[in-house]
Amino acid sequence: MGRTMRAQLAGIERVVGLLVAALTVCNAMAASPTTAAAGSKWWQNAVIYEIYPRSFQDSNGDGVGDLNGIAQRLDYLQRLGVDAIWIGPMFPSPQVDFGYDVADYENVDAQYGTLADFDRLLAQARKRNIRIILDMVLNHTSDQHPWFKAAAASRDNPRHDWYVWNDGVKVASGPPQPPNNWVSLFGGSAWEWVPAIQQYYYHDFYRAQPDLNWRKPEVERAMFDTLRFWLDRGVAGFRLDAITTLFEDPQLRSEPAQPGVNAQGDPILTRIYTDNLPEVHGVMRRMRQMVDTYPDDRVIIGETYLPNTAELDKWYGGEKHDELHLPMDMLVGFINKLEAGTFRDRLLEVQTQIHGSQPLLVFDNHDNTRSWDRYGDGVHNAEIAKIVATLLLASRATALLYQGQEIGQVTSVPTRVEDVKDPIGITGWPKERGRDGERTPMQWDATNAQAGFSTNPRTWLPVPTSYPTVNVASELADPGSLLNWNRKLIALRRTNPAFAGPMMMLDVQNANVLSFARVAKNGKAVLVTLNMSGAPQTVSLDTHSAGIGGATVATLMMSPASMKRPASAGNITLAPFGAWIGTAAAN
Ligand code: NOJ
Repeated sequence: MGRTMRAQLAGIERVVGLLVAALTVCNAMAASPTTAAAGSKWWQNAVIYEIYPRSFQDSNGDGVGDLNGIAQRLDYLQRLGVDAIWIGPMFPSPQVDFGYDVADYENVDAQYGTLADFDRLLAQARKRNIRIILDMVLNHTSDQHPWFKAAAASRDNPRHDWYVWNDGVKVASGPPQPPNNWVSLFGGSAWEWVPAIQQYYYHDFYRAQPDLNWRKPEVERAMFDTLRFWLDRGVAGFRLDAITTLFEDPQLRSEPAQPGVNAQGDPILTRIYTDNLPEVHGVMRRMRQMVDTYPDDRVIIGETYLPNTAELDKWYGGEKHDELHLPMDMLVGFINKLEAGTFRDRLLEVQTQIHGSQPLLVFDNHDNTRSWDRYGDGVHNAEIAKIVATLLLASRATALLYQGQEIGQVTSVPTRVEDVKDPIGITGWPKERGRDGERTPMQWDATNAQAGFSTNPRTWLPVPTSYPTVNVASELADPGSLLNWNRKLIALRRTNPAFAGPMMMLDVQNANVLSFARVAKNGKAVLVTLNMSGAPQTVSLDTHSAGIGGATVATLMMSPASMKRPASAGNITLAPFGAWIGTAAAN
């Protein structure tokens, strides 16, 4: 439901709001045959934990995280309650973009360990019922990949047109100019000149990351082979990096420019010829078919920054459900303003407008300022982080949690250009200071100055000064911590059948408080109410009219703990940025 629709609803009687809520339930329940099986696949309702391998746990004292380090922390992940881990790219790589420049898709970078370490990690994770999802970079390779080296060596090489080449535009003197105005997301022209063969190649990201030419069937075959290599080893699926950018306009038309420049000083282009081209859906359908031939419900997840829910729906395959299992919804998690009405609208939209598919919510990852800082007001960040955790873990959605999010790690942006490691921060300094801030080492404990991440004082990125108080060990010991809030919520969503059911918005005209119910098959409901304002709020949830039980409620979780436990759904008082979760008595 869009903003206009919300405005129209604003003046209408409360009872109409309840009708809308009831409709939501119907939509979510009746949407499609696949919904009938909701909850039957492991990834529906799963909590998936993103690990940035350089920064999770260093096991060999070189200051960089590794696979054996991840293995050492599996008990923690099990205690947290996650179903799967998504490990950022750990393939051999020159590490220009820290692994997103892959030089060999079928091995492990020596910095992170060996294939044998990977197999051990897989087996140890399996024992704890934790699946492993790999990050596959299909849009581009490293310029050090043997395919690209061959492609750039000669125009006649059979690998040449595995990448996107162009002769450029001839000018009176000097080398030809790039064929169009396309810019790289990492700054500057997206075209790099190779004097030896007198051609430009296209790179959407850094110049060390040449784009593959997905119009060549051989590229698809080679990449599907690498997917099979890992599926055969036993991975549970893939997170597909930058997947919307696989194709470019074959005519290489220039893109329309908006006024102004971006943080890199480049024109702001409307990406109609380089992003989200329809051809990509054919690849997704073929990939889905291939992946679905494997047993045990392997899953394909997409990094899908899209303009709206209608576009997101296409990535599921719409009513056919034959593309990605879980394209990421970036529309909810990146609202970046704590507004009850906006969250209500977006959550309703993704519940009702994707043909009954399973939403995948994301608030944090290794590319964005942490939600702690995006949503925090500088005063109530700890309370707000619990609201964000509840939006993520109590909504009807598969949840992606990024390492450190569960303890409230802060974004620690470098203050001097000489400290920056991320290429974007180097090309874009000082306007764009890069992504190092959200990639700092995981804060485990206060046993050493590396927060337990490493024994080496020279960690690849500095450990934030917050580690003596913000760390796993101290938060595990504190019942009121953000970590324990996350743990309890994950346990609740695993054990309470209401969390396998639909999501029903309540009190839909409230501009300050977002309230919803999760409803089990047997009709029993869990109520969730989140105060997104800095003032106390009292809400009255009409559970009777909504058909979800009597007015008497029992508290399951609440923050702050000092809040008064409500006796009735008709009278719940929330502290500023307070959160309350409880059950409603049966009808
Ligand atoms: C998206 C990844 O998340 C990001 O870290 C990377 O730099 C680009 N894709 C390029 O692979």
